[in-house]
Amino acid sequence: MLAARGVLRAGSLRRLAARQCALFEARSASSAIACAIPAPAGLAARPAHAPPRHARPAGARRVATMAAAVVVNPVPAPKAVLFEPESLPAVTVAPGDALEWTGDVLVIAVTEDDLEVKDEQAAISSAALKGLDASLQGVLAELVASGGFEGKAGQSTRAVRVLGAPAAHVALAGLGKRDKLAAVAEWGQSPFQTLGASVAALCKANKLKAAGLAFAAPPPGSAAAGVQRVVAGALQGAYESSRFKSKAPKGARLESLALLGLGSAPGLDAAIKHGAAVAVGGQLTRYLVEAPPNVCTPSHLAAAAKHVAGIAPDRFKLQVLEAEECAALGMGCFLGVAEASHEPAKFIHLTYSPPGKAAKKVAIVGKGLTFDSGGYNLKAGAGSMIELMKFDMGGAAATLGAARILADTQPAGVEVHFVIASCENMVSAKGLRPGDILTAASGKTVEVNNTDAEGRLTLADALWFVQEKAGVEAVVDIATLTGACMIALGGEVAGLFTPSDAMASAVGAAAKEAGEKVWRMPMEANYFEQLKSSCADMKNTGGRMGGSITASLFLKEFVKEGVEWAHLDIAGPVWSEKEQLPTGYGAATLAEWATLQGAAAPKAQ
Ligand code: BES
Ligand code: MN
Ligand code: ZN
Repeated sequence: MLAARGVLRAGSLRRLAARQCALFEARSASSAIACAIPAPAGLAARPAHAPPRHARPAGARRVATMAAAVVVNPVPAPKAVLFEPESLPAVTVAPGDALEWTGDVLVIAVTEDDLEVKDEQAAISSAALKGLDASLQGVLAELVASGGFEGKAGQSTRAVRVLGAPAAHVALAGLGKRDKLAAVAEWGQSPFQTLGASVAALCKANKLKAAGLAFAAPPPGSAAAGVQRVVAGALQGAYESSRFKSKAPKGARLESLALLGLGSAPGLDAAIKHGAAVAVGGQLTRYLVEAPPNVCTPSHLAAAAKHVAGIAPDRFKLQVLEAEECAALGMGCFLGVAEASHEPAKFIHLTYSPPGKAAKKVAIVGKGLTFDSGGYNLKAGAGSMIELMKFDMGGAAATLGAARILADTQPAGVEVHFVIASCENMVSAKGLRPGDILTAASGKTVEVNNTDAEGRLTLADALWFVQEKAGVEAVVDIATLTGACMIALGGEVAGLFTPSDAMASAVGAAAKEAGEKVWRMPMEANYFEQLKSSCADMKNTGGRMGGSITASLFLKEFVKEGVEWAHLDIAGPVWSEKEQLPTGYGAATLAEWATLQGAAAPKAQ
């Protein structure tokens, strides 16, 4: 009797398994449809403003355990996903006199040196601004006199009407001190990028669409370098997070930006294109990070990679490895993390080939945890930020954002491998336990003393892959890796870890160009003591102190001698605490770094 029941049970389990497979296939097919992406550069119609409340495709979720129910909450299929904004503001260079320009708002950029402040009262002091003010019936002097505006970067005035002027409104926006007015700021955002963002914010606040931007005096240095940053700032500033709102945002926002009074300075068109590329890449990053974990799954990231590849199909090749293929490659650390999840893990490998020959092969590796619950070391209690752990794929989003920038700028001389080992970190009866020992693809064994230190496990196998399978000479990984890095550097600065001074200066220079803040941290070798294991090659975590340093020492174990490597910990800057929205951090720096690798490499024969 018992035996008979046993046979019966085995049979029904087999049937169950067959049904699971069928359901899984149906589900995969539907997710392929849901992710079908339009090929052109993203200006296709946006889906109706209905939130894809139920992101799991029609049908059922696959359940890995045989005994569990097969169908779990069947939910409606999501709307088709687009990865680009419906439209971008059009940027043009308008020749002729700025005062003759017609449109919604003429924004005049001024420096602190155009004004003088006495007893907290600002007044116009430069001859150039006085001249403009005279032509605009004294409204500029009035705007300045009404207080609160001193020409600082990021400041702007109200937009006011000027009777008889061709532009409907006039406003002032600040650029900061004139002697600090380099296109590349010493630290953080360029004043030009900040200016662009002010123009977008001003249009949004006043419901204006067509802006013209003029400079009270021509900015020093190359106009093109400044314009590139103004455009990046304005286009990024015009982005609105409305993907998950049921209604379209109300009111007008920046639709066109005319750059006035710059004449025919060389390289302006190229600068506009470059600035727009940086903005679109940053927006893709934000778009992915803001998506909740029930929408932005590993499959969603794979679809985003497919979208990027489709922008420049001649330049990109995409390979997405399924869990079985990763297993065949021995990726025990990555799959160990993925095991507790019902979402299929995806190992994304997107390759950019330059026009002409590549003199250098590099990689960008992004942490792609679409949700980090902590696993059995559950993120519990106040301050654990579990509800924000959708942003744990911020490194992956920056990686894809950088690829999106390269799709437009197409730099020469460098082959770039974009790699993301994407999965969720969940809790399940079948999954990683604290104390498990995993074997990485490199052969190293890791005692997992904390399941919440999962990012480094996924990165270990991704780092192995780019070295052994793609054969890169240099790699930057980017990850929301440790809360400790937030404690050390706060919400705006990324930690830069590398044993190589050359790599530190290359990534540092790229970040400076991009206007993103990084700070080099020490890779104190003595702290590796904390990662020693009694029974495996190493543990995955050390103590609480210096947690971002031990994390980077862990990663270093997976980098071969002779390969240049840097690690960016973006746990802080991935997310804006103030806005409760993603920042897009990293895309611009990574694209800049990759581009510089092509420019610096010796020419291929
Ligand atoms: N994704 C987190 C890091 C994180 C935490 C980023 C908070 C942003 C805000 C990462 O996987 C993690 O959980 N790290 C642990 C490591 C620890 C267990 C050694 C951490 O930082 O607490
Ligand atoms: Mn974690
Ligand atoms: Zn994590």
